[in-house]
Amino acid sequence: MASEIYPLNEIDLLTEIERLDWNHTNVLVPVLGGHVLPPEVDAYLQGLVTERTASSTTGNDQPVVSVADIATGTGIWLVDVAKSLPPTARLDGFDYNTSKFRPTSALPPNVQLQEANALKPFPAKLHGQYDLVHVRLIFLALRTSDWAVVAANLRTLLRPGGYLLWEEVDSVNWKGYPASTQTAKILANMTRFYTEQSAGGTQYPIGLDQLLNAEGYDGARQEVFKLYDNGENTTLNLNRKRLFTTAALSCLRGYGKLGGIDGLQTEEEAAKNVVEAEEEVKKGEVQFGLWIWRTIARRSL
Ligand SMILES: C[S@@+](CC[C@H](N)C(=O)[O-])C[C@H]1O[C@@H](n2cnc3c(N)ncnc32)[C@H](O)[C@@H]1O
Repeated sequence: MASEIYPLNEIDLLTEIERLDWNHTNVLVPVLGGHVLPPEVDAYLQGLVTERTASSTTGNDQPVVSVADIATGTGIWLVDVAKSLPPTARLDGFDYNTSKFRPTSALPPNVQLQEANALKPFPAKLHGQYDLVHVRLIFLALRTSDWAVVAANLRTLLRPGGYLLWEEVDSVNWKGYPASTQTAKILANMTRFYTEQSAGGTQYPIGLDQLLNAEGYDGARQEVFKLYDNGENTTLNLNRKRLFTTAALSCLRGYGKLGGIDGLQTEEEAAKNVVEAEEEVKKGEVQFGLWIWRTIARRSL
């Protein structure tokens, strides 16, 4: 692979595993509507289960429905999806870095995690196998030209009529106010580093729907979920703050290892900057925002 731009595989493994699992349960699922599968996608999968079970178009050895999770991390998303589908569903997770995979003993029996790089063509035996392909939070690993490559590779995995569900944060609306705060500076630095490394200041996931339609998907559309620190002392708002401070610390540490960003070359400097930001967040001296984009598209029938 060309020089690595993804910062979050450079840091302490256990910290990252804990961070990914915690974010899934405490922020991402609650913010993205309170469910792992949007109702439209859930209804599609449940309909297939009913139809295929009734018509026994699948033999006993065939999965009743198949889902792939790309850039799966620990596999936590699939662990939750398994709860809403029959045990005969095939649930496959793929990641180019297998070090965060849950051990088999901590996975439902129908969840399999495997190594695969979404920037490379998937093996022919996986083509046309999945009713749903999901991706979440791969953006920090993608250069501008990579988005179309990943979109095309994911399309090969889908059955006709199958859904792509792609959930991402954008680096344009990732901002802190006022600009003089350490928090705002960290976010601006991270955006700058990412923009430089990703070769061209990509706006994606903003406009990812148009890219998907250009790549041959049908009916791609987007919904945005805006996270702001609204000053409330609710659990979700506190969890948003924790997501921000843990993500910022991990990114800064990772970027430090990948060559550093201005005024921040070591892990100690990263930690010091984030401690200052945490204090600002705690005292309510700064507002920060994150936008999460959900893009849904289908492979034509
Ligand atoms: C922020 S984590 C998100 C993990 C998981 N999707 C979640 O939401 O909990 C991003 C993951 O993308 C993986 N990744 C980055 N680039 C990838 C690529 N080209 N192919 C496969 N996985 C990739 C990383 O190894 C990491 O596990």
